[in-house]
Amino acid sequence: MSVDIRENLFPSDFAWGAATAAYQVEGGWKAHGKGPSIWDTFCHGKGRVFEDQNGDVACNSYELWEEDLRCVNYYNKVINDLLACNITPMVTLYHFDLPQALQDRGGWKWAGIAEVFDGYAAFCFRTFGDRVKLWLTLNEPYVCAKLGHEDGLFAPGVRDPGVSLYLAGHNMLRAHARAWHSYSALFRPEQKGLISLALNSDWAEPQDPSSPQDAAATERYMAFTFGWFASPVFMTGDYPATMRSRIEARSAGQGFPAARLPEFEEGEPRVLGTADFFALNHYTSRRVRAVSPSQTLGFKGDQEAEAEMDPSWPVCGTPWLAVVPYGLRKLLNYIKDACGNPAIYITENGFAQTGPVDLNDSQRSGFYRDTLLEVCKAIHEDGVDVRGYFAWSLLDNFEWADGFSVRFGLFHVDFTHPELTRTMYLSGREYAKIIMGNGFQSTAQS
Ligand code: GAL
Repeated sequence: MSVDIRENLFPSDFAWGAATAAYQVEGGWKAHGKGPSIWDTFCHGKGRVFEDQNGDVACNSYELWEEDLRCVNYYNKVINDLLACNITPMVTLYHFDLPQALQDRGGWKWAGIAEVFDGYAAFCFRTFGDRVKLWLTLNEPYVCAKLGHEDGLFAPGVRDPGVSLYLAGHNMLRAHARAWHSYSALFRPEQKGLISLALNSDWAEPQDPSSPQDAAATERYMAFTFGWFASPVFMTGDYPATMRSRIEARSAGQGFPAARLPEFEEGEPRVLGTADFFALNHYTSRRVRAVSPSQTLGFKGDQEAEAEMDPSWPVCGTPWLAVVPYGLRKLLNYIKDACGNPAIYITENGFAQTGPVDLNDSQRSGFYRDTLLEVCKAIHEDGVDVRGYFAWSLLDNFEWADGFSVRFGLFHVDFTHPELTRTMYLSGREYAKIIMGNGFQSTAQS
């Protein structure tokens, strides 16, 4: 099949970027009167993070930001100098590092956090909104709820299967909705920006495509992962029906006085429609099979689905990350159909390296090329409205519970060197070339 090279180009106003997060790069954990966050506390406890590492210094971007700005500026220079240093920022207000002082009041399980978050968001809109026009309230509420409040693998390290995650997730949605309404009412008229929240999702397919049970389990898996947050915001204003009915029935059977999945109460700010675009963080795909019902309390039991890797999928430097470029195209189509064809920014997507550093990371380069070709197809062949793509991540950084052992950067950071020297990986150069060409300028493929 011959492919017209124009099909491998992105729209002329496509936004290219690379993502970071404060705790993962900044360091400066005590600088200038900063109080601890839940990740400071989590890491300073023992046995929770790879080799008890922490983000006290991380990439020290708190002090080296000027150098990092020059790294980002490199992208601008190789594109067409249009933006020079004026990178268009998309700012995430919350990326996992809740102030410890708020955790001490109950964190995301505390209903009052929604008002606190709203006040913080308004401060940011007021302070930075003259220049920042793209906002994300929360990064990956699913990960914060599930890994932080069900599995205990992420801060705040709560292990409370089947209960805390739904409450934490609910309060995150309440907080997000308040911030969106505040922006719309008080800031948008003058600042004219857009605001959303970043939702992570795998792509999922039935383990056995001919099995109706596996197909149903796959739908449940998508409802409990993607739909948990996408449904209230983009689809119905409530959690997916299958989530609600299953958790209600199981909660009753387990002797809970009320369903473990909270209700959106009347009189609270509306959640439906509180996103001006869809922000997607996507890394991998899963095959899903039905499992026998069990009364064991927990998110997995509520779902009755087991997610697995397909043995044919290559796995990159971290065991959960099967590399499945086509899954992103499928997921983009799924979002288009499920959420009414929203404008989509892919706000995180990347490939990890572990073990000995390989600056000549051709596998990661190949990953970006293959994945972006799938995004191109989604745009041109499927009509998905994809507006931008941000690689995770600009720099190798503190990869949460994996510490510094897992590297996602376009720039290598030498964490053993006192100056935390940055060196561009091959993949950084290749990504820059793609940006410079706004896609793939190569000759027609056959
Ligand atoms: C996301 C998270 C990022 C980064 C990435 C790679 O879940 O938002 O902070 O850690 O995964 O694992």
